[in-house]
Amino acid sequence: MSFRVQPTPAARPNRCQLFGPGSNTKLFPKMAASAADVINLDLEDSVAPADKPQARRNIIQASHEIDWGNKYLSVRINALDTPYWYRDVVELLEEGSERIDQIMIPKVGCAEDVYAVDALITAIETAKGRTKKVSLEVIIESAAGIAHVEEIAASSPRLQAMSLGAADFAASMGMATTGIGGTQENYYMLREGQQYWSDPWHWAQAAIVAACRTHGILPVDGPFGDFSDDAGFIAQAKRSATLGMVGKWAIHPKQIALANEVFTPSEEAVNEAREILAAMEEAKASGAGATVYKGRLVDIASIRQAEVIVRQAEMIAG
Ligand code: COA
Ligand code: MG
Repeated sequence: MSFRVQPTPAARPNRCQLFGPGSNTKLFPKMAASAADVINLDLEDSVAPADKPQARRNIIQASHEIDWGNKYLSVRINALDTPYWYRDVVELLEEGSERIDQIMIPKVGCAEDVYAVDALITAIETAKGRTKKVSLEVIIESAAGIAHVEEIAASSPRLQAMSLGAADFAASMGMATTGIGGTQENYYMLREGQQYWSDPWHWAQAAIVAACRTHGILPVDGPFGDFSDDAGFIAQAKRSATLGMVGKWAIHPKQIALANEVFTPSEEAVNEAREILAAMEEAKASGAGATVYKGRLVDIASIRQAEVIVRQAEMIAG
């Protein structure tokens, strides 16, 4: 490791973030009763401009009246290029209850976007004597966002999570697709006449994971638009988990169980991780730094890999 130790992200499960429009109050109790770890009430793109003021009132009221249980409650505000975002923050934090855990900033393009929101939040919290400091999460969903991803990950001590927003990202990048995540028909390699599909989201995801892990932020995969395609959702989520992401959004309740399943380490994976740790304990006792487990090499790096899985499982269970 570098002299600079890699910080640990917030120790809370973030396997599934369930979204719902702030204008659709009928969904709020269903969201509160769901199995999602994080609830994202939306003021941004699922709310029409004329409905924004009422959606703010709805969310403020819901923060006081609905029992959100142990859910991490986040509100997505409007982007900083709109006339809405400052009122979102002011009204939410002046009138919303302390049950609000987090504010999500969409379309972040540079560290200063986060700085501006942090400054406003800090002033309101102080003025109102709020005792709980709200945390922040951001969406990387533009060319500028991915170009400045590391400075964004380092932008504020309030920042806890960062998601990839595939649809706006694709639009900002000029990508030739209207799909929200998943396999893209035209993104393939040819070999001997056979098509081999590749993953156009891969590099952005890997860049986000690297920036997040460097600065102790939770990396999260965003929406998968085709909620009729469970297998497609699972395939995307498994790729994200393999790359180091901790969870994925649900834009429909049927995606919650799928995300929870993929992002909870399986009993088999946890048992194997514990066996690797035991094998390495034995190796260390006999003075060896490496040994053989099920016919393959395990060494001191394997301890760190196995510990990631065991820690994740223990944190979720706890
Ligand atoms: N959270 C909780 N419950 C939800 C839900 C959500 N996001 N979306 C739908 N439901 C409920 C419905 O109310 C319905 O409940 P019921 O069985 O008690 O009647 C059930 O799940 C089935 O819903 P369905 O009829 O399949 O969907 P719909 O047509 O009502 O809604 C969407 C579909 C996509 C409009 C809706 O899921 C939605 O608004 N999703 C979130 C969109 C969003 O927030 N986007 C911004 C982030 S990208
Ligand atoms: Mg978006």
